[in-house]
Amino acid sequence: MENGESDETTSLFDPARFKILALGLIAALGGLLSGLDVGVISGALTFIGRTYHASTVALEWVVSAMMAGAALGSISAGWLSYHLGRKRALFLGAATFAIGALGCALSWSLGSLICFRAIMGLAIGLAAFTAPLYLSEIATEETRGAMVSMYQLMVTIGIFLAFLSDTLLSYSGNWRWMFGVVAIPAILFLIGLIFLPHSPRWLMMRGRYKEARAILLDLRETPQEAAQEAKSIRAQLKTRQEGWKLFRTNPNFRRSIVLGMLLQIMQQLAGINIVMYYAPEILQQAHFDTQGQMWCTALIGLVNMLATFVALGLVDRLGRKPILYMGFAVMAVGMGLLGWLLHGGMHTEASQMAAVFLLVVFSAGFAMSVGPLAWLLCSEIQPAAGRDFGVAVSTFTNWTANLVVGLTFLSLMQKLGAADTFWLFASLNALFMVLTYLFVPETKGVSLAKLQNRLMRGVRLRDIGRT
Ligand code: BGC
Repeated sequence: MENGESDETTSLFDPARFKILALGLIAALGGLLSGLDVGVISGALTFIGRTYHASTVALEWVVSAMMAGAALGSISAGWLSYHLGRKRALFLGAATFAIGALGCALSWSLGSLICFRAIMGLAIGLAAFTAPLYLSEIATEETRGAMVSMYQLMVTIGIFLAFLSDTLLSYSGNWRWMFGVVAIPAILFLIGLIFLPHSPRWLMMRGRYKEARAILLDLRETPQEAAQEAKSIRAQLKTRQEGWKLFRTNPNFRRSIVLGMLLQIMQQLAGINIVMYYAPEILQQAHFDTQGQMWCTALIGLVNMLATFVALGLVDRLGRKPILYMGFAVMAVGMGLLGWLLHGGMHTEASQMAAVFLLVVFSAGFAMSVGPLAWLLCSEIQPAAGRDFGVAVSTFTNWTANLVVGLTFLSLMQKLGAADTFWLFASLNALFMVLTYLFVPETKGVSLAKLQNRLMRGVRLRDIGRT
């Protein structure tokens, strides 16, 4: 290599790097499935309500059975991905997803639809845990951050695609097809999975060193790099995962568990999923017709996806806390103004447009902040010996909080009225700015070892990232 330029060209087209990217993309399809699952329901809901003459509570269950399934899926995911291996666990997730989606499409009653939604949820709980884990295990040191972020990006792409396909199908009102089409990427994902190797780290956990080394040789640029990584995985595996024991005996560890739970509760109670699941219902309150509701929802999905890029670009420059303050502030203002508009009754075209604009602003506020950051921070704050346990607890909390929001939103709107409901979410977002100040540490540029050290020494949570 004569200069930096040719060096870069070589690495860009390096077959090992290309292979990792291709594999990463296949595994990130797991994220796409999660997004499709979240997104598909918003467009389908109105039509399901008409077909089955469903009550508000029944519709809340059609939405929320998925989260209940996902909560269950996420607590079994750690066990399954250890015993079956990451690849087979992903396979199980994709197959279950396809069965759930086809089942919803062919459902014969509200009860059967709710059951198949729960099955889709189980699949998502499993895939949403295993896909990022697998991605982080096949990635190299330099591509790890990007690979994990790619996962969140795929979630938002999935939501957008589902909103779009719902919108196109809304002209015929055929909600069965809305579910049917999301089975297609699941089947493609199943086929793609055949080409994925096992995770080298998982193989080494199971004592299958020879196979792990062969895969590393194939995935890394040089044999030296492969050997070096095998050595370092072996060293890391010496830190036994003993989260439950640590949780019972160590109050400092309990603090990081509670912080992880708080971050996920804040992420969900910020209210993003009322927009993701119920945007058309909200827009109905603003007197949009069905097609208007659907196209505006698709626009919200698009902005949710694009704003994720902003977060990925800013997180290592501005730091976590400024981005969180900014996001919660934007969401509080967005929800507050929306409540005010709904209070006034929205009868002019200008106020309708303003409602869509505020929903878009709110979603952008989420996607550029606590959307990706809750996940990132949850993985950063846990000490090595309790990381698996910590991430499992926070993931479970995320789905449970998601379930609570999904199960109560329509009822809240009925009981409190639209304006008060939105003001409630606005106040929660304002409260989360204060909680961020009080409890969330700044982790930008701080090594995981340092965070762990200060956490376990009993340093105040918000100061564990201070140097
Ligand atoms: C959240 C999901 C949400 C999605 C929206 C994720 O980070 O955990 O609940 O639906 O972002 O983009």
